[in-house]
This record gives sequence, C-alpha cells and structure tokens, in this order.
Amino acid sequence: MDSIAILDFGSQTAQLIARRVREARVYSELFPWDAPPERVLALRPKGFILSGGPASVYDPGAPQVPAYVLESGLPVLGICYGMQALTHALGGKVAAAHKREYGHARLQILVDNPLLPPDTGQVWMSHGDRIETPPPGFIPLARTDNAPIAALGDLAAARFGVQFHPEVRHTPAGAEIIRRFVVDICAASPDWTPESIIEQSVARVREQVGEQRVLSAVSGGVDSSVATALVHRAVGEQLTAVFVDNGLMRAGEPLTVVETFRQHLGVQLRAVNAVEEFMEALAGVTDPEEKRRIIGEKFIRIFETQAREVGMPPFLVQGTIYPDVVESSAPDRAQAARIKTHHNVGGLPEEMHFELVEPLRYLFKDEVRAVGERLGLPPQIVWRQPFPGPGLAVRCLGEVTPERLAKLRAADRIVTEELSAAGLLRMTGDRRPGTDAPPPSSVSRPPPGTAQSFAVLLPVRSVGVMGDERTYQETVAIRAVTTDDFMTADWARLPHDLLARISTRIVNEVPGVNRVVYDITSKPPATIEWE
Ligand code: XMP
Repeated sequence: MDSIAILDFGSQTAQLIARRVREARVYSELFPWDAPPERVLALRPKGFILSGGPASVYDPGAPQVPAYVLESGLPVLGICYGMQALTHALGGKVAAAHKREYGHARLQILVDNPLLPPDTGQVWMSHGDRIETPPPGFIPLARTDNAPIAALGDLAAARFGVQFHPEVRHTPAGAEIIRRFVVDICAASPDWTPESIIEQSVARVREQVGEQRVLSAVSGGVDSSVATALVHRAVGEQLTAVFVDNGLMRAGEPLTVVETFRQHLGVQLRAVNAVEEFMEALAGVTDPEEKRRIIGEKFIRIFETQAREVGMPPFLVQGTIYPDVVESSAPDRAQAARIKTHHNVGGLPEEMHFELVEPLRYLFKDEVRAVGERLGLPPQIVWRQPFPGPGLAVRCLGEVTPERLAKLRAADRIVTEELSAAGLLRMTGDRRPGTDAPPPSSVSRPPPGTAQSFAVLLPVRSVGVMGDERTYQETVAIRAVTTDDFMTADWARLPHDLLARISTRIVNEVPGVNRVVYDITSKPPATIEWE
C-alpha cells in the first residue's frame, strides 16, 4: 500500500496533516524530523511532507531537512517552516522575521502548476520568516498581498513549498491541495479506505495471533469495542471478550454492549455481573481517588479470575490508537502523552504478561469510527462520548449507593436524550488550538455540539416547593463541554430553552431531586469531571 511520510518540525498541526493525507485515502505516518532514516524509509513512502514548526532556519540547532529526503529524489512538500527549511537546504535565502503571525489571505496564482488549484482563493497564512531568494530551479508559484512568495516549486523535481497551512479548515482548498500533492504528484494510489483498513488489520492480527487464543476486555467505549470487533473478524472463536458490569455505567449501556457483541457480532462474550461486589467495595467511600483505586483494583481482580477461567490466553486486545502512540517533536506532545497514561492506568493487570494485540495502533479516532461502522457496531457505541473508567462513581459526589446511582442515571438519561434531540451530542468540525482556532471574525457559526455532556449528582440538599409541599432534596449539576483534546475545555453555550427543558424534566421525572444547576466553569481551572 502506498504511503506518505510526514516529518514533524514541531508543528501544532502535524497530526492534522497526517489526517488530511488519509482523507485523501493515502496512508500517512508522522515521524519526528530527526527520526532515524531507516525507520522512515521502512515505510517506503511515495513522497515527503515537511511540517511547520516554531524555529527559524538560521537559529543555532534549528531542525534541518534530512539528507535522505533530498537524496531519495521523491516529491517533497514543505509547509511553512518546512518550506523555509527546504529553501535553506537547497541553497535559497530565507529572511528571518522571528515572529510568526497567522491570518487569512487571498492567494494569487502566478504560474499554472499541479499543486495549487487556479481558484485556491482564501488561505490561512503564516506570516513569519519569508523566502528572499528561491533555490536554483525553483520559481514562485503564488503570492498574497503581503507575501511575494507564498508558494514556490521546482516543477521538474516535484518539490514544493507553501507559506500557508493547507491542513487547516481555514484554507478551504487545503484538502484538494493535499490530495493533489499525494495522489497527482506523488502518484500514491488512494486505497486507504475503511474496507482496506479492515482487510489489513485482519491480516496483521491473524499473523500475530496464529492459532492461539485471545482475550479482550470490552468497556463499551469506542476504542475497545472496535478493537474487539476487528480481532473477532480476524480470529473468530479464538477470541473471548469479557464485559464487567460494575453497576457504574449509564442507563441502558450494559445491555447495549452485551446485545451488540453477543447477538449482532456473534462474539463469545462473558458478561460478569459484578454490581453488588462493586457496591459493597464502595460503601461509605467518598474520597474521589479512593473510589478510583477501589474500582481499578476490583476490576483487575475480576478480570484475572475470568482470564484464569478461560485458560489464560496468551494475547490481550488493547484499543490503543495512533494519537496515543505518535511521537512528535512538538513540545506539548510529551506532556500530553503523560497525562493520558495517568488516565489509562487502573486498566488491565500488568503482571499477567499478555502479549498485546493493538489493531488500532495506526488509526485516528475518525478512522476508528469509520471502521466500527463498517464492522456493524451501532451508533450508540461508535459515537459514544468518552466515559471515565470509574464511571458514574466519579459523577456521584459523596457516597455511591444504588439509590443515588439510580437518581443520577435517570437525570443523566434526560440530559443525553435532550442533547441528542437537539443534535448536540457530538462535536461538529474538528477545530484545533493554535493555528486552526476559529477566526475571531466568524459570524453565526452553528452551535459546536458537545464533546462530553452528562449529569452530576451533588450531595447538597436545598429547600424547594412542589405542589404545596416543602421539599428538601439533592441537586443535579449539568456538565457539558466543548474541547478538541480534553486537556483544556470550555463550557458549552447550550441554548437556554434546552437547559430549561432539561431542568424541568429532571425535577419532574427524577424523585429526590428538586434543583438543577449548570456548570459554567472552563478547564482549567476546573476539570471536566467533578471528581
Ligand atoms: P478531567 O476531569 O481530568 O477529564 O478534565 C479529562 C478526560 O478524562 C476522562 N477521565 C477519566 N478517564 N479514568 C478514565 O479512564 C479516569 O479516572 C478519568 N478521569 C477523567 C474524562 O471523562 C475526560 O474525558
């Protein structure tokens, strides 16, 4: 299968470049700019894309275009810093400005060329260092009012540079530019589709697992579900899935998981009803970290027992996805990766020495979803919002009891139903911080939807009146956020009418709740979950 290698020079949008290439149906992988050449070349790329980055080419120690890229003779597209590094490497001159600014600009095409559509129009420019003299063989391809060389190219050598960002949505022709580069110029065949992804993963899993047995823990989350369904497609009866109902899932979820896997997909699923066990272990516990510890520990013990009962298969399925493993030279990635692991702990027993089967290791979330749909998983699973491992325990503030969980579940179901009816259960678009932030001037965008939205039960009682009766009951808080990466988040500006409907329904339909509040705190300083 054809592929494109993307070298990351520390860009905030390197992953977006990789996604755009894959949207053009060509497989792409990201590498730090200084990755060992043999690792990058092992991909056998049909071309290279050099990302942007914060440096200036004349800075001491500034990242350089690796020699193997130029020696390969393959097509190259440099974006922003990538364009300057390419210019510098090939003997052109770059004028340093040491400050980068971003903004809209209109691209004027100077020379007919295979990269830029004649009607490219608006682009998201990065105004920073600029090209003073193109390298020998290169000619300016496009300009903007402020940049005499907004794109350049050596058409014979199929090497190009653009000062703007084709990977962001604010360059409407960007996807087409990337498609032209990878498909027309690099001649990569566009065959990276959900079907081909499934086909390849299936082959890879079969090769890894052979005739052996595989175990999988399904939680109902998108990644573990798709990974399990894929491994089932690959090895069928060799797979045993385990689902532990800990009594901490949202309304209807345990049933959806069991029915989906058993009835629709025909997976051998061991459904363990551990509700009472978890309730006993959590009785009297109010400290959030203590709840997490107890739940994590209990899960491991139950899973170990299950593994033993099915004869300790040597392989374990894990739903790791590409953004979790991708190495990047962007400084905030390392930190991002660390925070993630924190949330992933409390998962599966480490001391059990399984060999991991990770069929989603090279997939972005949207690809995971496309594969899930193609494998026949229902929308409730494919489009499910992230849900914390400790489940409703960290949304049931104070003590976790079956009665309080029932209240929380009923309120939460109303939140989900109303947001779903309003079409706000998913994020629309894929905005990213930094260069892909929405332009401040944009008017009347549709409501962005929510990345996570749920009810929280507070152990706070307040006085109310219902009919002619005084009430003294608990409070439900509604939490709904927009975010791209869950590291920072903003509270969703939900329509007041919608909040009113949710509030009325909760107070009328959920016994024991007489007040509803809306959480208007962003992260930071708050977190998304209340515990
Ligand atoms: P916070 O509350 O830290 O949440 O802003 C960020 C994201 O992580 C999820 N989350 C967890 N996931 N185990 C998990 O698997 C946990 O203990 C946990 N705590 C928070 C949260 O739902 C949000 O998506």
